[in-house]
Amino acid sequence: GAPIEVDLAPVAEGQDIKVFWRGKPIYISHRTKKQVDEVRAVPVSSLPDPASDQSRTKDGHEQWLVVIGICTHLGCIPIAHEGNYDGFFCPCHGSQYDASGRVRQGPAPLNLPVPPYQFVSDTKIQIG
Ligand code: FES
Repeated sequence: GAPIEVDLAPVAEGQDIKVFWRGKPIYISHRTKKQVDEVRAVPVSSLPDPASDQSRTKDGHEQWLVVIGICTHLGCIPIAHEGNYDGFFCPCHGSQYDASGRVRQGPAPLNLPVPPYQFVSDTKIQIG
C-alpha cells in the first residue's frame, strides 16, 4: 500500500482520530500535557511490554501518539479514550492500554504497535 498523509491541524488537544492505512485502523491522539506527563512518569521496567513513551513518539512532537488500533490479544479494535489509563480499552476481553498505547493490563501481551511514520510539516504526518 502507498503511504498516506494525514493533516493534524483539525485534531484538537484531547481528541483522537482514526484513519486507515493498509486496511488497518490507525489511531492518532492529540495528547494533553497531563497525559504526556503521566505516561512519562511510569517506570518503564514496571510495564508488561517495557518501552518508554519517548521511544514511541517523535522528538518535538510529543503531544502526538500514532498507533495501530488492533489489540495484541486477539485482534479486536480497542476504543480510544476509555479504560483506567486514559488511553485505550479493548471491549473484547478487557485489555487496558495507556495514553502511550502500552499495555497496562492483559490479556493482551504487547503494546499497540507504532506504524512507520514521519512528520512532513508541523501539522502533517506521512504514514508508511
Ligand atoms: Fe483485545 Fe482480547 S482481543 S482483549
